[in-house]
Amino acid sequence: MEAENYLLCVDNMKKSFGITKALKGVQLQLKSGEILGLIGENGSGKSTLTSIIAGIQPADSGGILFHGEPYSIQNSVEANEKGICMILQEKATFDNLSVAHNVFIGNEKEFCKHGILNNKLIFEKAREVLKKIGVTEIDVKDKIKNRSFEDGKLVELARAANLNPQILIVDETTTALSQNGRDILYTMMENMKKEGKSVIFISHDIDEMMSKCDRLSILRDGDYIGTLEKEEYSPEKIKSLMVGRTITDNYYREDTKSSYGDEIVLKAENITTSNLKDVSFELHKGEILGFGGLADSGMHDIGKAAFGAIHIKKGKVVDGQNEQIYSPSVAMKKKIAYIGKNRDQESLFVNSPIRDNVALPSYKIIAKNTFVSPTKERKFVEEWTTKLDVKMQNIDQYVSELSGGNKQKVAIAKWLGFGADIFILDCPTRGIDIGVKASIYKLLTDLKNRGKSIILISEELPEVIGMCDRVVVLKNGQNSGIFVREDDLTENKLINYMV
Ligand SMILES: Nc1ncnc2c1ncn2[C@@H]1O[C@H](COP(=O)(O)OP(=O)(O)OP(=O)(O)O)[C@@H](O)[C@H]1O
Ligand SMILES: [Mg+2]
Repeated sequence: MEAENYLLCVDNMKKSFGITKALKGVQLQLKSGEILGLIGENGSGKSTLTSIIAGIQPADSGGILFHGEPYSIQNSVEANEKGICMILQEKATFDNLSVAHNVFIGNEKEFCKHGILNNKLIFEKAREVLKKIGVTEIDVKDKIKNRSFEDGKLVELARAANLNPQILIVDETTTALSQNGRDILYTMMENMKKEGKSVIFISHDIDEMMSKCDRLSILRDGDYIGTLEKEEYSPEKIKSLMVGRTITDNYYREDTKSSYGDEIVLKAENITTSNLKDVSFELHKGEILGFGGLADSGMHDIGKAAFGAIHIKKGKVVDGQNEQIYSPSVAMKKKIAYIGKNRDQESLFVNSPIRDNVALPSYKIIAKNTFVSPTKERKFVEEWTTKLDVKMQNIDQYVSELSGGNKQKVAIAKWLGFGADIFILDCPTRGIDIGVKASIYKLLTDLKNRGKSIILISEELPEVIGMCDRVVVLKNGQNSGIFVREDDLTENKLINYMV
């Protein structure tokens, strides 16, 4: 196929940030009516490439043809006007605006008459747009800050749908969504395809990429490696092209029997929150206790409640000494660490260096008589960023400059470094590539073997089955089944208790 016959054709694109060469002469070809997957490890250049296509930042050099014509745009508004839209990996909604205003951000003009914004019309139209993509449960008048991270992403989807783009770029969005949200996104992608429009889809989930994408382009370290046709797909081939070496498939825990101490280190007694009803559980020393369920199962409240970070209406969470954990500061004093799903907002200072972010909760460990030795701090931070393979220039680089997955790694390094006894992890491998996933699972197994206890909340069933001693399945805010690690624990078995 000649370059001009593709809908979009990127040639020899280069982009550097200081000494980091994010794109080293990359190409990409997108056909009309296809879903093209873009895959590569954290920091390989996927977001940089697609954000250039979407007008968010300029390339240093290289050309783009769109409909066979040179495509030059100054910003994302111009890209939108030409028919290219992107759902960003990072949050792109405005907290203090309503859902409806977020849907139409940048297009308020349409609702203005004599300089006055017709809010009633905005609400009405937002409801329509959301409904069109299949979202009916979000109150359009609600401020975004009162909605979940997932709802924010659905609002971004609605915003894109409303612009009716020719090309939609979806950057690492699925891991922010529940199954229901994913289905909404997949339907939207399939519909675009039927209409002869195209999607560039980014995800670290290889199974998802193989099932959704018509072709798959691979980036490695800023280089274009190649494109696979559907009939060439195999997980091994994709993985080895991504990382440049063969990697083993089995990265979960190897033992297939549950094993943990008798000592109870954390206990929830009939807790009721706005999303949970009468849930009880016990976490043992050396145990990995998993929680799985659908988005509305209340699973994310488990972590917040166990860390004292949300209001518990009834019941309580206590530690091994029967002392109540009612606030995050109490939890931290008891050496409990919590990594929330919405890590960027909840636990990173993106406008500070990696060094400060990782060292912050651990100053007591690093400092001697309130004096923090810079050498000791550096060693500590370097140890943890190396363990998690954070791709960075050095530890003084700002977190804001890191790729999405590498930001996540910093958040995880920060809390794993904090030497807690209990780790509460909500979707810890969200947005993280397979190589580093494997190291995180290994770190979790090491923690367990050292007698630490872990609560693992995850939307990825293979992950909870692969890692946990016991799995609690939640449904409508209640415990609907508890499963002990064994050889024949399957996803289907758990799903039966989820729906
Ligand atoms: N504004 C910036 N300043 C400095 N470096 C940057 C900036 N944006 C990206 N980079 C660097 O460019 C490289 C590519 O980043 P990019 O975000 O494109 O990766 P990615 O493939 O999207 O990774 P992920 O899967 O983690 O999202 C990384 O090394 C990143 O740190
Ligand atoms: Mg990215």
